[in-house]
Amino acid sequence: MTELEKEISRRRTFAIISHPDAGKTTLTEKLLLFGGAIHVAGAVKSNKIKKTATSDWMDIEKQRGISVATSVMGFDYGEHKINILDTPGHQDFAEDTYRTLTAVDSVIIVVDIAKGVEMQTRKLMEVCRMRNTPVMIFVNKLDRLGKEPFDLLDELEEELGIAVRPLSWPIDQGPGFKGVYNIHQSKLDLYTPSKQTVTNSIGFDDVMHPALETHIGASNAAQLREDIELINGIYEPFDVQTYLKGHLAPVFFGSALNNFGVRELLDCFVQIAPTPGFTKTEERVVAAKESDFSGFIFKIHANMDPNHRSRIAFLKICSGKFERNVNYKHVRFGKMMKFSAPTAFMAQKKSIVDEAWAGDIIGLPDTGTFKIGDTLTSGEDLHFKGIPSFSPEMFKYIENADPMKSKQLQKGIDQLMDEGVAQSFTHQMNGRKIIGTVGQLQFEVIQYRLEHEYAALCRWEPIQLHKACWIESDHPESLELFKKRKFQYMAVDKEGRDVFLADSEYVLRMAQSDFEDIRFHFSSEF
Ligand code: G4P
Repeated sequence: MTELEKEISRRRTFAIISHPDAGKTTLTEKLLLFGGAIHVAGAVKSNKIKKTATSDWMDIEKQRGISVATSVMGFDYGEHKINILDTPGHQDFAEDTYRTLTAVDSVIIVVDIAKGVEMQTRKLMEVCRMRNTPVMIFVNKLDRLGKEPFDLLDELEEELGIAVRPLSWPIDQGPGFKGVYNIHQSKLDLYTPSKQTVTNSIGFDDVMHPALETHIGASNAAQLREDIELINGIYEPFDVQTYLKGHLAPVFFGSALNNFGVRELLDCFVQIAPTPGFTKTEERVVAAKESDFSGFIFKIHANMDPNHRSRIAFLKICSGKFERNVNYKHVRFGKMMKFSAPTAFMAQKKSIVDEAWAGDIIGLPDTGTFKIGDTLTSGEDLHFKGIPSFSPEMFKYIENADPMKSKQLQKGIDQLMDEGVAQSFTHQMNGRKIIGTVGQLQFEVIQYRLEHEYAALCRWEPIQLHKACWIESDHPESLELFKKRKFQYMAVDKEGRDVFLADSEYVLRMAQSDFEDIRFHFSSEF
């Protein structure tokens, strides 16, 4: 095995996703504890904005700082190198999460036993399904009363649109919670409520063994035997290949807060989760083990300090090895550039690195050179696919509120859009700029950042829009006709692509039925 192959095969790059409050931060923290990356609970700050705090600017600023620190957490676990990519919990930052999912090889979904599948989880799972990302599910908070486990499994299958297979099984829940039977490793993990200690495990190949009663009592033992028999009857044996194709999700039960069931999840994860594999580009498929370096920018983060408009561009290495101070091609500019201070993320610290491998994420200091989706390579012209922008849900005209600062405003808008904070469109009829977002919070973030980082003032004006969709057609004449007829509804996005602005669901449906030659897309990647 070459050094590159060895480095790749030990890497596991993934994201933990959940609806806010299901326990993502707590689980992340426990995983870091196991990796020895942190030593006390409470060290990982929650990367979320509480709903009640939307008007508190300091909170958003703090949040931005926290999320830089916890954007990527790398640590060694046994012979493995784990990279956890954090995703913002707040739904107004959903676009950010979608993009992060383009940089991972697999995903762990956290579900609250009492709440089951929630809205945000459902949406994020759609993105995983689009990309066939392998998914593992951790059902959390077993120390509390919640749904009946078989009902929950049905709900997971139905709501997430993926087949599931339990690899562990809870013994009671809430105050009566005794632990889980680890089907994957045939052992009984007994629960002792404690936030710091690690699970107590007893090897148990056969649940029929009479000793089971002495550990969990007669009625729990009878129930567990019945459940395991039912599981073996209903579910196919777990098949790793089906999981790796993204068609089957193994399910674990536990309590992140009590550090219960977390090691089992992690041990199984490092064993079966995919190593960095293949990434599609417009030109060809790139394999991680190719010796030439390539990677793409999936996230850009502005620094906290408003006096230095510096940013960090997050690069996912897709193939080969990245080295400090070596020239790489910035494909969009067709220009070679080298980086003297690339940072790696170990635990919660950033430090300058000399080299990094496929599967890793590095941070590149940026002063406006990068935008989301940019590619760096050893020299080949590659364009990575699959960083979609989704059709925004809220729209406003952005106007200059200080005529002396129009240049600053323009620059600020351009850079914020490159960062992926929101999307901008130019209305064809009146030339006005429209900003589209997925949540109200972005408008506030944009206004605040324009003022504090670019010294520009903006003003929002309402526009009644239902959806913006990208249009295309195999028939240029149909496209031209459509654009002419719908002139007052047409705009272009930042890349100059045609966008149809439908002001109501009805208008959109009419357009779709009147122009059958035209395809309407709700994501920029088609
Ligand atoms: P998130 O990142 O998915 O939003 O969730 P987070 O980990 O912040 O957890 C949300 C709440 O659920 C936290 O309580 C956390 O302590 C609790 N929690 C996480 N895992 C478990 C579990 O296994 N059992 C129980 N009973 N609770 C769990 P909080 O009161 O909102 O926050 P905090 O004050 O404890 O930080």
